[in-house]
Amino acid sequence: MKIALGYDHTASLLKDAVMEYLTTRKDVTVTDFGASPEYPEGALAVAKSIAAGEHELGILLCGTGAGMSIAANKVRGIRAVACSEPYTAKLTREHNNTHIICIGARVVGTELAKMVVAAFLDAVPEGGRHAKRVETFMAYEANTN
Ligand code: RB5
Repeated sequence: MKIALGYDHTASLLKDAVMEYLTTRKDVTVTDFGASPEYPEGALAVAKSIAAGEHELGILLCGTGAGMSIAANKVRGIRAVACSEPYTAKLTREHNNTHIICIGARVVGTELAKMVVAAFLDAVPEGGRHAKRVETFMAYEANTN
């Protein structure tokens, strides 16, 4: 799995912890997009790289996870979710086929964040009725300017 990682100035310490976890995994290669001074730039860079097929999944870290998820979702075709616990991380991958998980460095402790990342990366999109639901809103996006 090729993973894109982006973060802002609030999340340097969390980035180090997440990176430490990711290096323990043999199934991922990580591109570190570096710290963006303002959260939208980093979020858009990661989201665009996924939309372009350069990376399969993304991890975005800012103060709350909120701003980066909003920015990433502006990239056509991308689904990004701000998440604070592993259950949602797992289900948003399985049900929503989410590309990017966004975590708040001011909200989530480092060990919990690693669990969120693990749950996200280990989950597999289920397809079927869930895929049909995703297709419904992706079709809406595709048909609007
Ligand atoms: C930066 O202060 C903060 O706004 C940012 O990290 C993020 O939480 C935005 O949603």
